[in-house]
Amino acid sequence: MIQVLDKTFEVFISSEEIQREVRSLATKINEDLQDEDVVFIAVLNGSFMFAADLMKSVSLSSEISFVKMSSYHGTTSSGRVDELIGLNNDVKNKTVVIVEDIIDSGITMEKMISLIEMENPKQLKICTLLYKPEAFKGTRPPDYVGFSIPNAFVVGYGLDYNEKGRNLDAIYQIKE
Ligand code: IMP
Ligand code: MG
Repeated sequence: MIQVLDKTFEVFISSEEIQREVRSLATKINEDLQDEDVVFIAVLNGSFMFAADLMKSVSLSSEISFVKMSSYHGTTSSGRVDELIGLNNDVKNKTVVIVEDIIDSGITMEKMISLIEMENPKQLKICTLLYKPEAFKGTRPPDYVGFSIPNAFVVGYGLDYNEKGRNLDAIYQIKE
């Protein structure tokens, strides 16, 4: 058991299990996309560790870029404007693989998809280490999933609880 701020967590997925699954995801991606011009787009902050490990097993001649999403309240009637910070790579006519740490409700991913589709990629694939199918309300389920998990809060391996716990090498589930 570990403590992160005021909450207690217990190991849910060990470092060894994560590493094994990440290699297996990379193997599938290598097979599926061998003839494609691929740009990986990892979403900060949560996916930094997953993206780093995944890329070590990706053998495609590919690019990787890191983006952040910013949502802020604009002055238009729509109220909200979302923006992708840091997408400098030209993705037009290329295969984009979005790399995420976790898909929960799917709202963040829906926004990512619409922002990237404005850049006219050839195709878009979604790769997430963790997926909470019971919480998912999106229209486009992920193409590559490391672990489907129950609807409980997790930290570690990039995922945070109030910005803490990202450095843990395993994934921990809240104990309650
Ligand atoms: P969404 O609900 O799919 O839009 O997920 C939004 C964001 O919530 C994710 O990118 C994570 O940053 C965060 N999140 C969702 N579930 C968890 C969790 O169990 N632990 C830590 N962060 C989470
Ligand atoms: Mg995230």
